[in-house]
Amino acid sequence: MKIGIISDLHIDINQAFPVGTLLADAARRKELSCLAIAGDISNDSAETLKFIEELSSRCGIPVYFVPGNHDFWSANGNEAETWRIWEQYRAHPACLSDKQIALNEDWVLLGEPGWYDYSFGNPRFSRADFELKKQYGRTWQDSLHVNWGRPDIEVHQRMLNRLEESLLAAQGKQVVALIHMVGKKEFTVPESWPQWDYFNAFLGSKDYGELLERFAVRYAAMGHVHFRHTVQSGDTTYFCTCLNYHTQWRSGDPAEEIEQTLQVIDLL
Ligand SMILES: [Fe+2]
Repeated sequence: MKIGIISDLHIDINQAFPVGTLLADAARRKELSCLAIAGDISNDSAETLKFIEELSSRCGIPVYFVPGNHDFWSANGNEAETWRIWEQYRAHPACLSDKQIALNEDWVLLGEPGWYDYSFGNPRFSRADFELKKQYGRTWQDSLHVNWGRPDIEVHQRMLNRLEESLLAAQGKQVVALIHMVGKKEFTVPESWPQWDYFNAFLGSKDYGELLERFAVRYAAMGHVHFRHTVQSGDTTYFCTCLNYHTQWRSGDPAEEIEQTLQVIDLL
């Protein structure tokens, strides 16, 4: 069976392009048995869930996802709204959080959104600096639209614990894991790029990579950073499979960009 993985569709920012239709066409053409999306579908939870449901009926195959940081955004970014959105996702059958989906007898799909713990930021900044989410005259936009009401490090730790519980429940099976946040240093932005010595702090945590490799996870898909990369580390093959904003597309052609981005894994 073949599973297709993609991330960071940003259907609102890319609304001038028929991303859902093109993705469904690609899924049919590649004869996928299921599709998994590693977050950042839109900036609105209702739009994200509507897209998942429409895509699944358009493709005729199950579509699973983990929310990304953008999927948690709300206009006022208050604490009650952030938690309401999270509970709405967790209650949805397509959301992987807390679930292990048996793809066949041997393979399981699982995932969590993940969060950031500043471990990819340069240590010359303090935890208080990172908690501000403001540096070089720029503001990390999650601070305006997401409010967990507790430190990011605590949110990350909870996500990590849930992922570990899912991995324990899947022991004895081969695992495909989806995490929106980045779990490998290789997926962060080079510090030679201006300002990223600070902003890498909000890309994820090295803890995810360490956990996945401790459980010898075979495939792990991540998003968030808007790069496309494959990295092999230990027994784990990591994909960063971001479709990205249309302004970042080199070909200018959405079908071509989906073709280049959609990662197909043949589970033998
Ligand atoms: Fe993201």
